[in-house]
Amino acid sequence: MSEILLEIKNLKKHFIVDGGKALKAVDGVSFKLKKGETLGLVGESGCGKTTCGRTVLGLYDLTDGEIFFKGQKINDIKGEERKKLRKQMQIIFQDPYASLNPRMTVGDIIAEGLDIFGMSKGQERVKEIQRLLKLVGLNREHASRFPHEFSGGQRQRIGIARALAINPEFIVCDEPISALDVSIQAQVVNLLIRLQKELGLTYLFIAHDLSMVKHISDKVGVMYLGKLVEIGDSKKLFYEPKHPYTKALMSAIPIADPHYEATKKGIKLEGEIPSPINPPSGCRFRTRCSVVQEICIAEEPELKEISPDYLCACHFVK
Ligand SMILES: Nc1ncnc2c1ncn2[C@@H]1O[C@H](COP(=O)(O)OP(=O)(O)O)[C@@H](O)[C@H]1O
Ligand code: SF4
Ligand SMILES: [Mg+2]
Repeated sequence: MSEILLEIKNLKKHFIVDGGKALKAVDGVSFKLKKGETLGLVGESGCGKTTCGRTVLGLYDLTDGEIFFKGQKINDIKGEERKKLRKQMQIIFQDPYASLNPRMTVGDIIAEGLDIFGMSKGQERVKEIQRLLKLVGLNREHASRFPHEFSGGQRQRIGIARALAINPEFIVCDEPISALDVSIQAQVVNLLIRLQKELGLTYLFIAHDLSMVKHISDKVGVMYLGKLVEIGDSKKLFYEPKHPYTKALMSAIPIADPHYEATKKGIKLEGEIPSPINPPSGCRFRTRCSVVQEICIAEEPELKEISPDYLCACHFVK
């Protein structure tokens, strides 16, 4: 039941940019994810969520740190072993418009993984495509059509079917609903939840706001400038956010929940996000924090456990 599927320890991904400077997109992130669980990863655009997800999947070489999948260290896995691993880990992209090849039929898009891994051919492949279409709430007739014939929500269903084709255990959902109409977002999230239950999937669910994350996540991690500032049980985090950044982030979105509305009063998120090439000294959030003190400039707060399995990085949260 409580098998740890994925563990990352002090993961860093620095991009070398103009003049040889290091852009610290992910700068020391650690978390554990149990099988069947969802970790929601939130934070403003540019804080390193996508880079974190892609590095975990091996799409980027990491700069430092360790990644364990089913207890095995997978940082340096290459060749055949990497191919096997790729079958177990998939990604669903943010933009269902851009991520589907417009010249391929839906059937061929969905079967891409099956073809790459030589998993099924001929009639068996056709059946598999039909099974996958049904699984995500589409029809078998859809297989011969092209992506432009579908709505945004349907395209994301195609993207989900494509990811599921090779029976992965772990899926990075990279803002899978951000590009969709609000009315469609809940449908796609509910589909992901149903599939998770049916197939025992584990998700890293990336989002730049908190509204849908609340619905799908067991745990939530809040990132700011490449680091986690708060991580723990989703309900606790939503009902009693501890970190000033989490509080500010929450105040930016409307959620129909009286308790929640009460906790968010009076906190505003102002100012620009600093550059990850030159992050502020001490606490990275200090340039925008409404309760900043002298110590925040000099000393970086550690991400420490403030209650069981609940961590926060602020000098004034104990
Ligand atoms: N391939 C890349 N090369 C250089 N910088 C990158 C690259 N990908 C992302 N970045 C930078 O890394 C930071 C984190 O980006 P990203 O992970 O996309 O954030 P998020 O998904 O939270 O919006 C940003 O400052 C972004 O500009
Ligand atoms: S450490 Fe200081 S600047 Fe950082 S979040 Fe806490 S109070 Fe704000
Ligand atoms: Mg992103």
